[in-house]
Amino acid sequence: MTSDGLKNVVLTESEMSYLDGDTGDLVYRGYDITELAERARFEELFHLFWEGDFPSQEQFDQTCSVLAENRPISDEIKQLAKKLAENQMHPMAALRTLVSALPAFDPDAGSSPLNMEANYRKAERIAAKLITLIAAFDRYRKGHEAVDPDPELSHAGNFLYMLSGEKPSPGAEEIFNSCLVLHADHGFNASTFAARVTASTLSDIHSAITSAIGTLKGLIHGGANSEVMRMLLEIDQQQIDPIDYVKQKLAAGEVIMGFGHAVYNTIDPRSPYLRKMCQKLGEEQGETKWYRYSTKIEDYMEEAKGIRCNVDFYSASVYYLLGISIDLYTTIFAASRVVGWIGHIMEQYAERTLIRPRARYVGPMNLKYCPLSQRQ
Ligand SMILES: CC(C)(COP(=O)(O)OP(=O)(O)OC[C@H]1O[C@@H](n2cnc3c(N)ncnc32)[C@H](O)[C@@H]1OP(=O)(O)O)[C@@H](O)C(=O)NCCC(=O)NCCS
Repeated sequence: MTSDGLKNVVLTESEMSYLDGDTGDLVYRGYDITELAERARFEELFHLFWEGDFPSQEQFDQTCSVLAENRPISDEIKQLAKKLAENQMHPMAALRTLVSALPAFDPDAGSSPLNMEANYRKAERIAAKLITLIAAFDRYRKGHEAVDPDPELSHAGNFLYMLSGEKPSPGAEEIFNSCLVLHADHGFNASTFAARVTASTLSDIHSAITSAIGTLKGLIHGGANSEVMRMLLEIDQQQIDPIDYVKQKLAAGEVIMGFGHAVYNTIDPRSPYLRKMCQKLGEEQGETKWYRYSTKIEDYMEEAKGIRCNVDFYSASVYYLLGISIDLYTTIFAASRVVGWIGHIMEQYAERTLIRPRARYVGPMNLKYCPLSQRQ
């Protein structure tokens, strides 16, 4: 028996997050996501995931100042971001390359992966800088200069500010903060697993995050949100009924991006919040068609196929309404999930077990080597 992509295989124990695929619950270290989505600041999750519980005010202030101190990137990294932008690299590929270049300027780069104090310092630098890297890359490829982070702004606010060069409205900042909160951790998803596999070999934290980013880039993992927006735009451009569009895709044997989930048999608990945000932003901006198309598709998929939408479905139009470029959506996922990845990497270092599954060999046996010159 093979395990169908390790589906339902319990590999180890984790205190990071709990998912119940049958009830549609997602819990971060004991706290239900439904409450956190509306009330928590993304910066609070650093302490929650890395230290085990929510911070006191003093600890929260400390996290905010560590992030503010570490968000700026060096001129050399900016130059690299510019080069990658000039070469029209995919934003996730650029992010992967930029993160793996960060150790060149990290004073703890040479430390042992078992030096936990150095690991946390490296982790703070990576998580803080991720949004600056993404924003700088995006601005360079659009022919602008990078915008330096503003130490007075929140993490969510800084991301929007560095992308556009304009201070975001409190409403936009709040919505984007909730998006970051909702994406921060999700059990043993593929990118988290990739990060843990890398950490399990006692490789360094930059390598583990680089593995995770490369894995998240995949179309049926983090890449789905960009595809959802492309689908909505196609529906709009063709002026086709969203249900007819989906019917055609299904008839052609295609999957509909933003639907289905490897764990949830019922609702993805993150999607109702994103749906609400999509509606709210659309109404505020007088642009409700994305919400309209999306709800039609959601209803149809549920009624006709029994498949519910996932986190990527409504996050696509939320990011679009926030004015973010479509191919940047997966990088937002990374900017949030990095906090979860790091929590898992730390758990993996503490566990000290090499992840090394096996495959059942089904190829031929007992073949005889034939020298190259004698082969037909
Ligand atoms: C996420 C995903 C890979 C999970 O795949 P999975 O674990 O194989 O899903 P299931 O086993 O529950 O699929 C059950 C059935 O629903 C179908 N299905 C699942 N997701 C579907 C989708 N998005 N569109 C159409 N059909 C879908 C499957 O093809 C399967 O049909 P079958 O029984 O006739 O073979 C898959 O749903 C998918 O590719 N979704 C689109 C990409 C996406 O949104 N990814 C982000 C995930 S957060």
